[in-house]
Amino acid sequence: MCGIFAYLNCGVPKTKKEIVEKLLVGLKRLEYRGYDSAGFAMDDNEKWCEDDDDDDDDEEEGGDKKRHDAKKVIVCREVGKIANLEALARKELFGEDDDDENEVKASKSKSSNGRKKSSSSIKPLDFCASIAHTRWATHGPPNKINTHPHTSDSRENEFVVVHNGIITNHAPLRAMLERRGMKFETDTDTEVIPKLCKFLSDKFEESGEKDVTFRQLAMEVTRQLQGAYALVFKSTKYPGELVAAKRGSPLLMGISDDSGEVSCVIDGNLSDGAEEDVLLKKASGNKKRKSMTGGAAAAAAADADTTTTTRITTTTTTTTNNPKVEFYFASDASAMVEHTKRVLVLEDDDVCHCHDGTYKIYKVEKQKHPHPGYTSGHDSPEYGLYKPVVLSKEVERTIETLEMEVESIMKGEFDHFMQKEIFEQPEAISSTMRGRLVLDVLGAAERVMLGGMSQFAATIRRSRRIILCGCGTSYNSAIAIRQLFEELTELPVTLELASDVLDRRCPFFRDDTCIFISQSGETADTLKALEYAKAKGALCVGIVNTVGSAISRATDCGVHINAGAEIGVASTKAYTCQIVAMVLVALSLSEDSRSKHTRRDDIMQGLLKLPGCVKECLKMDAILLELAQELKEEHSLLIFGRGFNYATALEGALKVKEVALVHSEGILAGEMKHGPLALVDKHMPIIVVCTNDGSYEKQQSVVQQLKARDGRLILIVSDDDTEMEKTAPDAVILRVPKVEDCLQAVVNIVPLQLLSYHLTVLRGHNCDQPRNLAKSVTVE
Ligand code: F6R
Repeated sequence: MCGIFAYLNCGVPKTKKEIVEKLLVGLKRLEYRGYDSAGFAMDDNEKWCEDDDDDDDDEEEGGDKKRHDAKKVIVCREVGKIANLEALARKELFGEDDDDENEVKASKSKSSNGRKKSSSSIKPLDFCASIAHTRWATHGPPNKINTHPHTSDSRENEFVVVHNGIITNHAPLRAMLERRGMKFETDTDTEVIPKLCKFLSDKFEESGEKDVTFRQLAMEVTRQLQGAYALVFKSTKYPGELVAAKRGSPLLMGISDDSGEVSCVIDGNLSDGAEEDVLLKKASGNKKRKSMTGGAAAAAAADADTTTTTRITTTTTTTTNNPKVEFYFASDASAMVEHTKRVLVLEDDDVCHCHDGTYKIYKVEKQKHPHPGYTSGHDSPEYGLYKPVVLSKEVERTIETLEMEVESIMKGEFDHFMQKEIFEQPEAISSTMRGRLVLDVLGAAERVMLGGMSQFAATIRRSRRIILCGCGTSYNSAIAIRQLFEELTELPVTLELASDVLDRRCPFFRDDTCIFISQSGETADTLKALEYAKAKGALCVGIVNTVGSAISRATDCGVHINAGAEIGVASTKAYTCQIVAMVLVALSLSEDSRSKHTRRDDIMQGLLKLPGCVKECLKMDAILLELAQELKEEHSLLIFGRGFNYATALEGALKVKEVALVHSEGILAGEMKHGPLALVDKHMPIIVVCTNDGSYEKQQSVVQQLKARDGRLILIVSDDDTEMEKTAPDAVILRVPKVEDCLQAVVNIVPLQLLSYHLTVLRGHNCDQPRNLAKSVTVE
């Protein structure tokens, strides 16, 4: 939720238009994280535009000139999609008409005072600190006033901040600042941050602390904050500088420095490519960090699909002395990859300061002073002499190379990301299995190899129970896999919705294994449940798509699902890949079991066929479009499933409701007679998942009963089924390839994904950015 993008060019001249364009493109990549409103702030170069004769002076005065001109800050905000912000920026900053076809690229422009000027007269800025944000509203309605960036004072814009997360103590901070005469302009929790900047900055000056750096000031501000944040600060007091800070919400920094002056010291080799399976643990905090080189890199490359985000790491110092460098900050890699692949992931309590071609990262140390922003022995800021008190030390962080192709974040030939991601599933599933399902010389699957996970297999097998935990679609994948886990591990397996874990204070124990499933790896509820499980001493395993995410870092071990970037807000390929990854985990946990040898072997051979079967299913697209046309005016839809396909019913219903905005319920078919049957009549469309597995006869009986009540039936059946159409001759029959029962959920969800996609488009809704939703829910 909410996306941050920031850019600082040092010694690399950029025009205002180029910078605005960069910000807008960055925001568009992050739009799936929130699309209630968006905004940006940047230094203005109007002064250069107006007076070309100043050229010589500029050079002579150097940095001082830069500081002088950067006093003027442009802040641009708009409600709704980034396209609205783009239109506003074109009109207000460049005097372009709405109907101008070129985005922010017209050859003519006029200044904000209305004078027309040609772009050739615009002198680029050598240094420009710019910050941008796309919002998913949590505190305060989605209007223009509440749109980021937020400022210390909207007339002066001295301190400007973008924020992702929630400041839980914003109310007392706001009250304190209001008592001291500050006027608040928005309903947001974020606004306390720039106001605190201004308040503390003034107090430091009054106390004679003239040399407080931007980094020190930002640290003093973050010290007052409780909750979660990723922040980027800019200020007219510190022109040409950006400070970023992170706790709890994701933030990456990217560096584009053609000279390659950032030094890289490769100091290790992975023993084998499979070690990639160990989720990267505290990677960037380690000075001595293993890197993939030579054979290991080749193995990893062979392992990687072009759409994966595997990281190859190198150790590095955290400064660059190159005066020509561009710095980026972004909430995730998708906004970074087209500018640079060299990124570092900021850790909690990191503060990163970029200026004059250098960057440094500091870690806030445990505080000695209990009172905020002042020191004097008195308990109240009213009496204190203000001086910076935050202790910090400079730290080294690893620069990593993003192995992510720009194409993976583009729609390509598809109309929507959701559609693209549904169609990517055969390849994504292959990626999940690549290097992990080991084949014999004849090409049959022989065993499962999950690298670092194997160190923990014995501990997991000795667990008292396995707990599968996640939210939404990720939780549904846990439901899909539970039965196989029980069967192969012979351990009790329980399911927990992450948001419920803390509400109930679930009894977790040190001999439990908790498996946390998350596409983003950032979901606040899942992260909190993970912290809770860790505090209880349980072994924590991650099944995560996003490499380097908070959940992948905080778990003891795990598996990256390697599904590639998922941009559509509704999860599709991550769901099927999560199931496949967990099948691999269940297989690896049962490899010593002789009694399960045949079953395990059948599943492994079934896995090999799975991408092809999903591909077959995708050929049903036209049939699902037709069905969607038939159903597009409906207000409600029921989906019945059981056993391995109870999850299919829940996940299918979730897709239909979240993107097509049609009420839909996934129902355990065994529960039909206990209530839901009352809803059945000749109008209600009902999908029954009744592919051929151990529940087949029971599902046949369900179909008979629904038919007896005149139900309007759509049946998902195995391709070789001949019985169901006899049972319900009027039903719409959707035939899917038959696979091993525990894998069938991966195939069966595909027609439901396609149906929800087509329903959404036909009903005129946005499937990639459904109403009120955001991709990563980083607040509880
Ligand atoms: C539904 C959907 C959500 C997510 C849920 C958890 O299509 O995407 O229900 O599955 O918010 O997100 P992750 O998997 O990122 O933890």
